[in-house]
Amino acid sequence: MAYIKWTSDLDTGISVIDGQHRKIVDYINMLNAAKENGDKSVVAEVLEQLADYTMSHFAFEEGLQEQAGYQYLQAHKRVHAIFIKKVAEYQSRMTNGEDVIDQVLATLKRWLVNHIKNDDADYVSAVRGMTPDNRGDKRRNWFTKRLRRLLGSPPAA
Ligand SMILES: [Fe+2]
Repeated sequence: MAYIKWTSDLDTGISVIDGQHRKIVDYINMLNAAKENGDKSVVAEVLEQLADYTMSHFAFEEGLQEQAGYQYLQAHKRVHAIFIKKVAEYQSRMTNGEDVIDQVLATLKRWLVNHIKNDDADYVSAVRGMTPDNRGDKRRNWFTKRLRRLLGSPPAA
């Protein structure tokens, strides 16, 4: 059974961000499956992949916020940095032989759900309308073009 089940209250409404969040949830579920299989090296490997993916996701979010001139960018970056540090601490405790996997899973679940529903929901309202999913907005300016480049979508015809 999945450790975290995706529910609609986790959707931000920006599909590129929701896709990345879902992938993090998939990694957490894979981490739980690895724990249940009892293979510590697989657990460590999955956690490493989860940490890598989450860091690129954070960089993506921060880029989006920067482009949008989001007023709480620095605070959001700090929250991300603290989380990355926490995961790295757990990884080194694991490497030192401590059995912290249950704590890791509980922390990941609690942190991610809380972060998506609160911190991310706040910046999403600031950047909404500027991503390729929201093409109803016909305004064309340097900002939307730059954002499209950042998001990797083809230029509008
Ligand atoms: Fe975030």
